[in-house]
Formats: sequence, C-alpha cells, structure tokens
Amino acid sequence: MPHAPASPLLASRPAGPLTGRLRVPGDKSISHRALMFGALAVGETAITGLLEGEDVLRTAAAMRLLGAEVTQLAPGEWRVSGRGVGGLTEPADVLDMGNSGTAARLLCGLLAGHPLFAVMTGDASLRKRPMKRVTDPLSATGAVFRTREGGRLPLAVQGAADPLPLDYVLPVASAQVKSACLLAGLCAPGVTRVVEREPTRDHTENMLRHFGASVSIEDTAEGRVILLTGRPELVAAPVHVPGDPSSAAFPIAAALLVPGSRVVVENVGLNPLRTGLFATLREMGARLTIENERVEGGEPVGDLVAEHGPLRAVDVPPRRAPSMIDEYPVLAVLAGFAEGETRMRGLQELRVKESDRLAATAAMLAANGVAARIEGDDLVVQGQGGATSGGPVPGGGTVETHMDHRLAMSALVMGLGTRAPVAVDDAAFIDTSFPGFAALMNRLAGGEALRAP
Ligand code: S3P
Repeated sequence: MPHAPASPLLASRPAGPLTGRLRVPGDKSISHRALMFGALAVGETAITGLLEGEDVLRTAAAMRLLGAEVTQLAPGEWRVSGRGVGGLTEPADVLDMGNSGTAARLLCGLLAGHPLFAVMTGDASLRKRPMKRVTDPLSATGAVFRTREGGRLPLAVQGAADPLPLDYVLPVASAQVKSACLLAGLCAPGVTRVVEREPTRDHTENMLRHFGASVSIEDTAEGRVILLTGRPELVAAPVHVPGDPSSAAFPIAAALLVPGSRVVVENVGLNPLRTGLFATLREMGARLTIENERVEGGEPVGDLVAEHGPLRAVDVPPRRAPSMIDEYPVLAVLAGFAEGETRMRGLQELRVKESDRLAATAAMLAANGVAARIEGDDLVVQGQGGATSGGPVPGGGTVETHMDHRLAMSALVMGLGTRAPVAVDDAAFIDTSFPGFAALMNRLAGGEALRAP
C-alpha cells in the first residue's frame, strides 16, 4: 500500500521543563492479542484501552476478513464476536499487515491451524523482515507456506486441515515466534510444547489462561517449557489494556533529560518481562519511581514518576534484552547524555526490527554529535555528561527513521535535550504505536517543542 507523503518533524529544547500527568496509548502487544483471542473465543469479548495505532488497526481488519465481528464503540472501547477455535473463515482478500511484525507473525500461527488459503503482505519495511522464523516451525503443523526469496512477505499459506501439535525449542528469544507456535497449537489436538531458553514477554500465555485454555509453564534446565492443551473452548473474557511501557519510555526519557522536569505516567503496564528499561534507568541513577502499583486484568500496572537528574553510564547484560528489546534506541539517547561509556550487549535481534535498529540507532547518535560504535552485537555509546545548562550534546542532525516509529520518537526526545534542534525525515510512522505523540509531548513542554520544520 502506498504510504502517505513523509512528514518531517523537528524537536528543539523546550523553553521550560516538561511537567504534568499523562496516560500513554494502550499496550501494543496486548492489543493485538486481545483482538486475536477475541476472534477465537465463543461469545463477545469487551476490550477497553485498546491501542488505536495503525499496527493494531491492521489486526482488527484482518480479524474481520477472517470472519470475526470487530466493532469500535468509543475511543479505546471495542467488542469482538468470535468464531471459536478453528472457526476462522477463508479471507476473500489479501491480509495487509502494514508495518506490524507482531501482527504478521502471530497471524501466521492462527492461519496455520485453519484449513483455509490466505495471502499476506505488508509495507516496504515489513516486506524486508524475516518470516522463516515462524514459517519453518509452523510447517510442522502440516500447513504449507510459500514466501518470497529469503522468507519475505508477501506469503501464501494453505493452513492444515488436521494440524499437528508442535514441539519446538526457540532458536531466538522471540515472543512473536513463541506466540505463533502457541496460536497454531490451539487448533491441534494434543499438547503443543514450546521451550524458550530466555524468557520473553508472556502476554500470550496470560491471555490463553484468561480465555480458559490450559497452559502449564515450568522452568527447567532446558529453559522455560510451555505446554498448551490443544482445541480448548476459548470463552470470551473482558480485556483491560494497560498503557504501553514501551510508549511510556519516551515521555519518561524526555523528563530525565530536560532540566526541572517531572512527569507522572499513569496506568503503565509493569509485566516483569517488559520492564528491563526501568531497571536499567535506575542503575543509571535516574529519578524514577513507581506509585500506586496494582493488578488490573491480570497484568501488574502502576504510575511512573520521572524527574530530571544526572545519569551515569551502564553496562546492560544480554540476558536483559528480551525485557527491553524495543527500548534500546531511547536508552541509547539517554546514554548519550550520561556520564561515561555505556555498553548494551547482545543486540543481534535489533537488526530485524522495523529497521536495522542497531545500525540506525548508532547513525542517529552520530548525526547529532554523540560517539557511538557497534562492536559485534554490542552498542557502545560515549556519554557527553550531564544535560544541565544548555546540554553538552550538540544535536543539529537530521535522523533517517527508515519507516521505524521508535527511531523517530527516540530522535525527537533527543532533540529536547540537545543544543541545536534534531530533525527526523519522517514522523508519520509514529502513528503505528503512539498516535498523538507530538501533541502530548508539546502539552508536557507547555509549548511547541515538536513542530514541523
Ligand atoms: C512483540 C515481541 C517483540 C517486540 C515487538 C512486540 C510481541 O518482538 O519487539 O515489538 O508483541 O510479541 P520479538 O518477539 O520478535 O523480539
């Protein structure tokens, strides 16, 4: 699908500090899953707080094409009337997943278990991303996938009429691959077994249980073993989507950078497999606290309070990567303002995100006067010291965002702390995960900190 013309944006140091209370849009991972589980359940699933970003709207459209009734009642408030496990119907048109790797990969799992033919595509970024990581294991169900060269989209799938359960040890730490296997396993008789050596976000497992499936999880010497009993009757269940911690990262980072700032981000999801960034920030000495911790809809949530202060460099171990995989670009920005050299280890998975985020993050920093280098799978950032009195990071660069929402937001946050404004070539993709980002940041800044150049 042709993409709307690029919309460049510029961020410059706001006149005053960032202050106020805010909420960020709903969690992207949970939103995709809520729509998919709703489509597989019997009855009507009520969803509140759904992220209405482009990525999730693609999943909503795909579920409609597969026979579910999906309706928006009010902003964030949605209803899904499901078809029951195994009840999805053949889509009459191509499933276009836009920019969303999560939607595309999870959907492969759903399609594998249904006896239907489907064709899937995506935008130029998604069409570059590897799909073999799901089509390979899913082929063992009996589904037949055909992809472009290199396992890229568009792909065609003939789902299995009698899907077999999978027994799969994940070769990469990927919640998307794990979830695709589990979703296929819903349609197969018997027990599907998925093993992950490093734990990744467990929203799929939580939601399977929430909708009535039988899932057992055991930590063993082999890793985390997940057993799912196939062909359950999933029953519609309400889903309250918390604020996305990956989106909360941006106003929090901005508050840490801009002198005098204090922001409170309310109702943020705090699933322990998602909060690696917050642990890392505390190691950097960030003034970041959690208030009002509670459990809502089966997921822990809380209000995050971030205040400006000095940051020191940090060494982030590779085992933390799955719990903060989407947060490295914005952490790299903060590392540029910290005292000392930060090393982020084991970032190979960043090469296959919406862009090659490892290369693009290093380029973003270099374009704005921060020394950064890639050593093997590590990103090393030379911090420029504190961000007080005008900020020592020069800025002044234009960042190429490569159709990647998180690079765009990271660069714009950086520009709030640099001496000269930072420009991004295209801010349009921010809408995939964080509609209203610029307006929200401007409200916190009390002026036009982000604006068209
Ligand atoms: C996601 C998993 C992560 C993450 C993505 C959302 C999910 O990808 O980067 O934004 O919802 O399962 P991988 O599982 O491929 O690392």
